[in-house]
Amino acid sequence: MKINENTLLDGNKVVLVPYTEEHVPRYHEWMKSPELQQLTASEPLTLEQEYDMARSWREDDDKCTFIILDKQRWADSRVEEEQCMVGDVNIFLTDPTDPSLAELEIMIAEPSYRGKGIGKEVTCMMMSYGVTKLGVKKFQVKIGLDNEISIAMFKKLHFQEVSVCKVFKEVTLELTVDESVRKRLLEHTTDMKERDYRQSCSSRQGGLSP
Ligand SMILES: CC(C)(COP(=O)(O)OP(=O)(O)OC[C@H]1O[C@@H](n2cnc3c(N)ncnc32)[C@H](O)[C@@H]1OP(=O)(O)O)[C@@H](O)C(=O)NCCC(=O)NCCS
Repeated sequence: MKINENTLLDGNKVVLVPYTEEHVPRYHEWMKSPELQQLTASEPLTLEQEYDMARSWREDDDKCTFIILDKQRWADSRVEEEQCMVGDVNIFLTDPTDPSLAELEIMIAEPSYRGKGIGKEVTCMMMSYGVTKLGVKKFQVKIGLDNEISIAMFKKLHFQEVSVCKVFKEVTLELTVDESVRKRLLEHTTDMKERDYRQSCSSRQGGLSP
């Protein structure tokens, strides 16, 4: 999606930045992991396919993605951005007749970053962005039946189970964004700041605080 091509979302533990070519090699390395392939129901891609995929996430109107960076590491301008990458988060507008329906995906790819509240923080940030900037009114997640952690996280965020597909061994959870959900989301993300990504990168390289 073009809308977030220069957007940085600044959170407490993380910053979310657009998925650029610079991030592809690390992302490609992550997706070689059979564990991540299984947890995210993904097929491994060649490096070339991964560059094409990154381009399509940047350009297609039905896809919005951010790369998750460790905010503290990123604040240190000596650390390359690629070395600050923790995972990614996506919104996919699955129904061309209903752009208010969004499928949400999140991956904390680095195991050492899991279980520290990052998944919850990033999911709330992305939902808040989806609601306020993309007009999302309903979120859907499809999760492998074995992925208890992800199921627990989305239930904690008030998603409700709507169906189970035994063939694909996955459960679908949904959250409709009514006024109370919207209010709660905005309350959870009051500290989130939207910034200009390229400007933040040049301030960072210039040694100024991003
Ligand atoms: C699922 C995932 C996004 C959760 O992110 P995270 O940063 O590890 O989770 P958080 O620390 O924010 O915890 C969020 C909730 O998840 C649940 N959770 C986290 N770790 C857990 C664990 N080890 N055991 C059980 N539940 C756990 C809890 O409900 C927790 O809420 P709480 O801390 O209020 O109890 C992350 O583990 C991940 O990306 N895993 C690999 C890829 C994946 O499975 N993606 C989802 C595909 S649908």
